Amino acid sequence: MSQVVQISTTHDSAALHVSGRARYADDIELPANAVHVAFGMSEIAHGHIRHMDLSAVASAPGVVRVFTDADIPGVNNYGPILHDDPIFATDLIQFYGQPIFAVAATSFDAARRAVKLAKIEYETLPALLDIASALAVDSQVIPTETLRQGEPETALANAPQRLSGQVAIGGQDHFYLEGQIAIAIPQENGGVLIHSSTQHPSEVQHLVAHALHVQSHDVVVQCRRMGGAFGGKESQPALFASVAAIVATALGVPAKVRVDRDADMIMTGKRHDFIAEYDVGFDTQGRIQGLTLMLASRCGYSADLSGPVNDRAMFHADNCYFLEHVQIISHRCKTNTVSNTAFRGFGGPQGMVAIEAVLDDIARHLQLDPLDVRRANFYGIEDRNVTPYKMLVENNLVHKIVDELVDSSDYATRRIAINEFNKNSPIIKKGLALTPVKFGISFTATQYNQAGALVHVYTDGSVLLNHGGTEMGQGLFTKVAQVVAHEFGIALDQVRVSATDTSKVPNTSPTAASSGSDLNGKAAQAAARTIKERLVSFATEAYQVAAADVVFADGQVYMPGHQLTFAALVFQAYMARVSLSSTGYYSTPKIHYDRKTFSGRPFFYFSWGAAVTEVAIDTLTGENRILRVDILHDVGTSLNPALDIGQIEGGFLQGVGWLTSEELYWSDKGELKTHAPSTYKIPAASDWPEDTRINLLSDTPNAEDTIFHSKAVGEPPLMLAISAFHALRDAVANSAGAQAAMHLSAPATPEAILRALGAGEVV
Ligand code: MTE
Ligand code: MOS
Repeated sequence: MSQVVQISTTHDSAALHVSGRARYADDIELPANAVHVAFGMSEIAHGHIRHMDLSAVASAPGVVRVFTDADIPGVNNYGPILHDDPIFATDLIQFYGQPIFAVAATSFDAARRAVKLAKIEYETLPALLDIASALAVDSQVIPTETLRQGEPETALANAPQRLSGQVAIGGQDHFYLEGQIAIAIPQENGGVLIHSSTQHPSEVQHLVAHALHVQSHDVVVQCRRMGGAFGGKESQPALFASVAAIVATALGVPAKVRVDRDADMIMTGKRHDFIAEYDVGFDTQGRIQGLTLMLASRCGYSADLSGPVNDRAMFHADNCYFLEHVQIISHRCKTNTVSNTAFRGFGGPQGMVAIEAVLDDIARHLQLDPLDVRRANFYGIEDRNVTPYKMLVENNLVHKIVDELVDSSDYATRRIAINEFNKNSPIIKKGLALTPVKFGISFTATQYNQAGALVHVYTDGSVLLNHGGTEMGQGLFTKVAQVVAHEFGIALDQVRVSATDTSKVPNTSPTAASSGSDLNGKAAQAAARTIKERLVSFATEAYQVAAADVVFADGQVYMPGHQLTFAALVFQAYMARVSLSSTGYYSTPKIHYDRKTFSGRPFFYFSWGAAVTEVAIDTLTGENRILRVDILHDVGTSLNPALDIGQIEGGFLQGVGWLTSEELYWSDKGELKTHAPSTYKIPAASDWPEDTRINLLSDTPNAEDTIFHSKAVGEPPLMLAISAFHALRDAVANSAGAQAAMHLSAPATPEAILRALGAGEVV
């Protein structure tokens, strides 16, 4: 039987993507009476609106109508958890760039020009702009959380060696190629159809319904694909969809909200930047005996997803290391900046950067190879295997992966070669680092770990698949189609995936936490199996064969003495009045977790990986580049190796951007100054390292019963980039000593590298 799962195929839209024929929301044709919307944004970070005159806006050419909070029929909120995100500021301004009003005009250009004519007077209040100033006055969006295991204070006091330090971790803009966009089209009797570029159609549906003061069944949200999302389209799209819906229903015409890049970067939340401070006790091998870790993040003005993001940072502050006596404190700082949100890894990466800095500092302090210190702290296989949140680390792959990678990357030989090189190279210095990844798979919000699917088989044997997951380039639709094709024993092109649609599969979870294929793959499999069982039971009667003897393969149905095409059997079943459509449902087993005590099994399983990165820095300019990267990554038994390797490549490079070149800068007035590619440097194709060796760990099916024993792959590879950051630290140490390296925070931009070099002694 020809395989359709566990093989490399192209992304189902690959040809459409590269030929420009893939339809994104912006490609949807609109009738001539459609209006286009632009936002009026605040020009202060904190204060009150004293006076607002929008008359010039309203009478500008092309303007159809101006909308403020007074025009919202329902609730003025798009905040998903705490309802503290106003669609339009009413009186209180909480960040620079906050939406105050919207203009609907006959063209986007007319709307943008009109917005500039607003006259708004403010009463300015002092603004808290960064983590330090928020911490100083205890400004929080959600109360501080503490996670404890063992007796950290005693362990610290008794440890032979002790070190304290800190690392700053920058934020990150999502920089999806397709910006935020929503189109609302009024339907009869108060209904509205929304095309939204969203990872979370159901949440958009709910928040739009609240804003319009209608019921969920009045709102249909569709999304065929996003041009990238990365967490930035989990909660943020509800703002744009709500405004589109408010405008469209008020005017009775389609409304399109598509913000430009600058507005998108100013108005939407980003990855949380963090400060981590630690006090660690360890032995002469660098094995940690006690640790207290303080994590503080900039959440911005509202809660958004900051609660779960910071929880996940705490849950990943162990990474692959056993912390017997530990206290992790997590401050969720409220600032007068845009409200930060989900971003690939969802806080996990920040927690991991923190612990990796602790280990690196210990190694520098003891003058050991950081790899040896990391290894000394790995979770054990038999013992030393309980996380700070009391989950047993089972099926631990870190030893296997690191051993294999150390071998295949020639780590030891290259370490010596790099030392030699550095001795003879006064200006260019090289560095090398290996860091591992352990990432917990499942939503920590347990209710999200469920999914639904809807499968139709038509009488010609073609299959239409719908599920609650969304496609953002990661290949989810392809993977789930593979699963369904496999169940029916048909070719992949016999399965068509339709746009995610809240009227087909209801109450869906966001496509997030990397769980898209785990959840929707199983739900779609269940739907396909239901239909297949009906077909089999029809065949057993029609052909007088045993159920076990009916085999679906290669587009055929084989039975003792009979063979017919899948389409032929389907048609016969239809004629015999057998239902050829089914829903499917899945909920993740085994997980449970008590938020109050921060303990349980929040994750179904862990995904593992490791990377070795070699870099060179120019010690005169701080410029740097990656010379080589070796990655070994665990995806269980891959559903589609080509797609998985694509996720690993993309995740790694996006992480490299976060930790080395992407720097967000706010003025002292709280105005984001880096709101375009001219000032915000994401990696380009030319930044892809020349020598990359990326491999999937072989022969390690997921020990848990996931879809074909595969593992989630969307987020974990981003954290492989921590090796690039530590390779840069290593290069700095090789130039200016251990102290200098400890001064390097993220992002390790050329300026940061120069500053760190200046903090050390040139050796
Ligand atoms: N890959 C592409 N090409 N584009 C994206 O926006 N988002 C990432 C990851 N990979 C993203 C991506 C994030 S943040 C997540 S959570 C997962 O994909 C979501 O999809 P999955 O659950 O199907 O892996
Ligand atoms: Mo991904 S940050 O979970 O959308």
